[in-house]
Amino acid sequence: MSQPLPVYALLPIELVRGSNTTVWDAQGHPYLDLYGGHAVISIGHGQEEWAAAIATQTSTLGYYSNSVRIRIQEQAAEALGRISGRDSYRVFFVNSGAEANENALKLASFATGRRRVIAFDKSFHGRTALAVAATDDPKIVAPVNETPNVTHVPLNNIEAVRAELSAGDVAAVIIEGIQGVGGCRMPTEAFLQDLHAACTEFGALLILDEIQSGCGRTGRYFAFDHAGIEPPLITMAKGIGNGFPVGAVLVHPDIVVSNGMLGTTFGGNHMASAAVKCVVEVMEREGLMDSAAERGQQIVSALRSAPHIAEIRGRGLMLGVVLDQPSNAVRTTLWKEHGILTGSASDPNVLRILPPLTLTAAEAERFTTTLITVLSELPA
Ligand SMILES: Cc1ncc(COP(=O)(O)O)c(C=O)c1O
Repeated sequence: MSQPLPVYALLPIELVRGSNTTVWDAQGHPYLDLYGGHAVISIGHGQEEWAAAIATQTSTLGYYSNSVRIRIQEQAAEALGRISGRDSYRVFFVNSGAEANENALKLASFATGRRRVIAFDKSFHGRTALAVAATDDPKIVAPVNETPNVTHVPLNNIEAVRAELSAGDVAAVIIEGIQGVGGCRMPTEAFLQDLHAACTEFGALLILDEIQSGCGRTGRYFAFDHAGIEPPLITMAKGIGNGFPVGAVLVHPDIVVSNGMLGTTFGGNHMASAAVKCVVEVMEREGLMDSAAERGQQIVSALRSAPHIAEIRGRGLMLGVVLDQPSNAVRTTLWKEHGILTGSASDPNVLRILPPLTLTAAEAERFTTTLITVLSELPA
């Protein structure tokens, strides 16, 4: 009997149902979801309007290709432009985060006629050819993906970036608004501002990968918005579909794109577009960006003097709680004994917190109180 390829380290539970911030396993046990299937669930599990928007679109016209006008795709683009405050940008829809980065990198190369890409240490940009080459994890780079065209430099080191830019032929610099898989490592605001200026100076295009840190999770629509910069290319996925697979590249109006340069069979399809439009409308109506900022501050303040916490990184509802030891045992105690799901990161000491943006104050308090109890029981 065929089985899914065993490439994932599975938590030994089967989730069968979800409602807002809670998911239930096959035995009926509830779990408070502080992980959101890593940052994917933005407006809540099983959100009724979202389910209805997709179902209605599916039964009206489920699919037709990008060879015809897709009005719901135009409405989804308009919604993303509106909520992100970038309605002059155009939107190229794809199906995943990796594809969004792949296409943004390709656009940068087309636009500049250059070959090289600068990326950062501990970055994660996906698993397609160029996206994985830009990712700093040799374990997932196959020999066919190895390329001399991508150089990794240390995060927050503008001199290292400038040295590579001066060496020439750089099409793009790609950076996460906050490094997710890397353990919620943050570029500083000053670094992002300097990076933007250096890219402009050397004619390279800055790509902000907001696939995990975007969609309002940090209290602004994009994490880089806190630095007040305007990158020419922005990539999105995860939260914009609330679980419906969809990604997007926001493209600055100055970037010239010609007919046929990019394309996709499923990107921007009717169902995905209905999901994106609905997620934006719910976020706007429920004020979920403000709420994400408030809940994040609540969690950080509550954990400030908790034992065994070395540092808390991140912003809003994208937090990396760095312990003074590996976080795995704490994560296990949280889900097994307290019914709370949290995430890990490539840094083994990090507990990643990426809940739906609908997390309530009472749920945030339940999480912090439980975590403090679990940490207090660890040997000093
Ligand atoms: C910052 C970032 N970029 C890109 C990706 C790749 O997205 P996908 O898995 O949808 O291809 C991820 C996924 O975790 C991510 O966190």
